[in-house]
Amino acid sequence: MDVTILKSSFAVVERRAEHAAKFFYTHLFWHNPGIRELFPPATEDMERQRDRLFAALTHVIARLDDEALLPYLRDLGRDHRKFLAGPEHYAAVGTSLLAALAAASGPAWTPPVERAWAEAYRFIADVMTSGAAASEDPPWWDAEVVRHLRYGQDIGVLTLRPHIPLPYLPGQYVSVSSARVPATWRTYSLGNAPRADHTLDLHVSRIEGGRLSGVLVRDTGPGESLRLGAAGGRVALRRADRPATFIAAGTGWAPVRAMLEQLLAHPPDQGVRLFVVARDAAHLYDRPLIDACAAAHRWLAVTYITPAPGRRREEATDRLATALGTRGLWPDQDVYLSGPPPFVERTAALLAELGAVPDRVHHDAVPAPPGPGTPRPLGFGEWFLNRPAPHWHNPGGRAPRP
Ligand SMILES: Cc1cc2nc3c(=O)[nH]c(=O)nc-3n(C[C@H](O)[C@H](O)[C@H](O)COP(=O)(O)OP(=O)(O)OC[C@H]3O[C@@H](n4cnc5c(N)ncnc54)[C@H](O)[C@@H]3O)c2cc1C
Ligand code: HEM
Repeated sequence: MDVTILKSSFAVVERRAEHAAKFFYTHLFWHNPGIRELFPPATEDMERQRDRLFAALTHVIARLDDEALLPYLRDLGRDHRKFLAGPEHYAAVGTSLLAALAAASGPAWTPPVERAWAEAYRFIADVMTSGAAASEDPPWWDAEVVRHLRYGQDIGVLTLRPHIPLPYLPGQYVSVSSARVPATWRTYSLGNAPRADHTLDLHVSRIEGGRLSGVLVRDTGPGESLRLGAAGGRVALRRADRPATFIAAGTGWAPVRAMLEQLLAHPPDQGVRLFVVARDAAHLYDRPLIDACAAAHRWLAVTYITPAPGRRREEATDRLATALGTRGLWPDQDVYLSGPPPFVERTAALLAELGAVPDRVHHDAVPAPPGPGTPRPLGFGEWFLNRPAPHWHNPGGRAPRP
């Protein structure tokens, strides 16, 4: 495969990415009407989708010489089964992709360039479809909601019972879809360590105008079924001989709770510091449980951070900065960060200034800042793709698998 040709051709296409993306989807849906319903229905989602799938495809091609790509593609293929993507769809996507690339390339679309893209797409599609075929996981898990605890208007904790056990590590997340919002998938962290009854908790924060979070928090009740994808994500407890600090904001508490539950089952020798950040005291929805835990375990030191009543949410971040600044020993710590992307980004930068070792600061990838081509936080596939190599937690390695 000629990576040099692909990269120089990609540079041409990239400048006309929006045009190419529009062409790609128009071509795909015109020639394969049946494929349309596999994609999110609303116009605004299609705008987003245009960028997501096409950006993903082109980014993969731009990273063909990266050794972390193979395991990523296999997992991507495994995960695409939940979108109902079959071999015939891969062929259709390939044809439309090449047509779009040709249209965007103009005279730069020469026979060697066409050959290079065709070969690259065949390679990607082959790795993805073989990842799908080799997977022993089901394509998705249907999970019944067995409990829904609401905390005010904005937060819901849903307990789900998957039809068969869903393997995962504390700290990981799953993608979630509801029949109420067809073909729409969003990612949520798992909020508990694996239980004997295999139930799972999702902590969902309602986003104003959000397609799925509102439906989950407001409308989804016991007896209803949700569809889950395989667990993903690289954040998992390192059981090294190092003390640990957890910093969670909002429902970013969910994966931290899962990891803490794991620690409770095997108490650590080292101290554990926990910072829980919320927009106000009412949003510290698991405080009773955290207080009980801190009272029972001397190794756990908890600090709650909220803005003073009536002050802006951002004050919580300032208060967190002050609190972190007064704690020392950052180079010794494994730090686990979880919360909205801007929070994670700011706190990671602050920790670096305080002397924390970047390799020991663990969090899910932070998406590229929104721009004209990225109107919202991206899917986790793209987070992986957009991450600059030096920040990967586990370069060249696989995501931890249960
Ligand atoms: C790895 C990972 C783990 C996650 N874990 C959790 C979790 O445990 N709990 C949880 O509640 N969410 C979690 N999320 C966020 C979740 O995946 C959705 O993005 C979120 O619920 C919004 O989805 P939606 O369909 O309601 O909104 P969308 O329809 O996707 O978005 C609607 C509008 O809201 C904006 N928007 C989206 N997200 C936010 C935000 N966070 N803050 C402000 N505006 C926003 C968008 O730009 C858009 O304009 C996680 C995301 C990732 C990538
Ligand atoms: C080589 C081929 C492909 C690549 C590299 C690719 C890549 C991606 C990536 C990275 C995502 C985002 C994942 C996430 O956020 O979870 C995605 C989403 C998606 N892909 Fe693919 N894909 C390919 C082929 C296909 C095919 C053949 C289909 C056929 C149906 C398909 C359908 C979808 C759908 C429906 C989504 C979800 C969109 C959303 O949630 O908004 N993809 N793809």
